Parts: sequence; structure tokens; C-alpha cells
Amino acid sequence: MTLATTIFETMFDASSNPSDTLSQLIRTRRSVRDFLPHAIPEVLLNKVLEDANGAPSWSNTQPYRIAIASGDVRAKISAELCTLFDLGMAAQSGGVLGKLRLLLTRRGLPDGDFSTQFPYPDDLQPQRRATGAGLYEVLGIGRKDIAARNRQMRRNFEFFGAPTAIFLFAHKGLREFSVLDTGIFLNTLMLSAHANGLATCAQGALATWAGPIRAEFKIPVPYQLISGLSIGYASEAAVNNFNPGRSEFKEQQVGSR
Ligand SMILES: Cc1cc2nc3c(=O)[nH]c(=O)nc-3n(C[C@H](O)[C@H](O)[C@H](O)COP(=O)(O)O)c2cc1C
Repeated sequence: MTLATTIFETMFDASSNPSDTLSQLIRTRRSVRDFLPHAIPEVLLNKVLEDANGAPSWSNTQPYRIAIASGDVRAKISAELCTLFDLGMAAQSGGVLGKLRLLLTRRGLPDGDFSTQFPYPDDLQPQRRATGAGLYEVLGIGRKDIAARNRQMRRNFEFFGAPTAIFLFAHKGLREFSVLDTGIFLNTLMLSAHANGLATCAQGALATWAGPIRAEFKIPVPYQLISGLSIGYASEAAVNNFNPGRSEFKEQQVGSR
């Protein structure tokens, strides 16, 4: 029996009806931020990708491309992303001189297709802060411990130890709608991964620098890096039990006039 089927069978009762199974699947999926190093069997990853390929899209255009990094390529991309992150951090803590060096060399400056650093809308701040506070609490990181927070941020670029990272690109020509389609694809992939005993973490942070990914993969010109995803087997680390919960769905529903 594989690791994947063992986990699946402990989570889902095969005799339950499909809608219960789907609800269970949706409700038990969590973002995992600490992975075991074990490689994902190719046949299993392909099964998940085939499921994700069933996602609906605008006019069935499937306006996204994915780049899958494992082994040496994964290690190379991670090393370069960590270097860029470190350079950015050094510039921030290096005062005016540090920032000047960053601007002159440009190494460490975000080169992503979409900016990942922008002012947060005020109305979304409470939810964002609560999620961040909950995560840092599970990690035992104090509110003012900036160094530990930065180390946790850096873990994004180590793919939290996952053996595989998937980068998702959306077609520029379909404007926001390809981003929407890419998100649907991403969630279908994450749910299938979960059903198959794999863990994931979607990572907008991985859209900060596109250069290291473009250096390894032939990304067609109209495609823009919108997100990354770490995928593999969850470790037993406490951080993987973090569940930020949700507000009631009624809070997302607007009232009638
Ligand atoms: C598009 C997208 C981007 C995300 N980016 C990051 C990220 O860069 N780093 C991270 O640790 N988590 C990231 N997350 C995970 C979210 O924080 C997480 O989905 C949210 O807190 C809800 O928790 P859950 O996935 O465990 O239900 C991202 C999730 C999505 C859907």
C-alpha cells in the first residue's frame, strides 16, 4: 500500500456518498507549510494533473501553462529565489546605501509579471492580520520578531521543503479571465492532490521573481507567472495543523436592496 492510499483511507470512508466525500475533501484540505522530502511518484502526480486538466475555463481555452520543477531544477530555482530574497532583505536592512545598491545592480528587485507587493485594501486587513497572527502563533513566532518572520517568509522560496514546485502562468490576452481560469485549475489540482494523499500550498509569493523560472523553462511569450504551488507529502510539523477557519458564507453574500 502506498503512502498516498494509506492517508486517503484514513481520511475518507469509501462507503460514504460522493457529496459527503466531496464536502469532506473540501473541508479537510489545508495549506501545508512543512513537507517531507519524499519524491512524488510520477504516475501519482500525472493522475492529479489529469484531474486538474478537467477544470472548466473560458470557452474551454485552458488559458494557462504550468512548469513543474523537481530534482535538480527545483533545487536550482529554489537556490536562486532564496538568493534574490536575501538580497532584497539585505537591501531593506541596509539603509539608503543598501537600497541604492539594489537599484543599481537590480539583482533582488522583483521581476515578476504581477506585483506581489502592494498596499492592502483596508477592509481586507483584519482577515489578513488574523491569518498571519494565527500562523505565527502556531510557529511560536512573536509579534515583533521580524527576523523569525523573515525566515518564515524565506521558507516560501524553499518550497517549504516540498520535492516539487509547480508554477502557473496565465495568458495575458484573456485579461483577468485567464487569471480566474488559472485559479480554478489551481484549486482543482489542490483538491485532487488532497484526495490522492498529497499536500499542497498555493503561493502567491512565488510570483515575485519570474527570472529563475524563465531561465529553466520555455514559457510562451503571452503567459504571465501568477502563482506557484508546493506539492508533496505533509510532515508532522505543528504548522500543518494551522486552520485559519472561515467567516460565515453569509458574510460574503451581499444583501438585496
Ligand atoms: C492564490 C493563493 C496564494 C497564496 N499565497 C501564499 C503564500 O505565498 N505563502 C503561504 O504561506 N500561503 C499562501 N497561500 C495560502 C493561504 O494563506 C491559505 O490558503 C489561507 O490562509 C487559507 O488556509 P487553508 O488553505 O489552510 O484553508 C495562498 C493561497 C492562495 C489561494
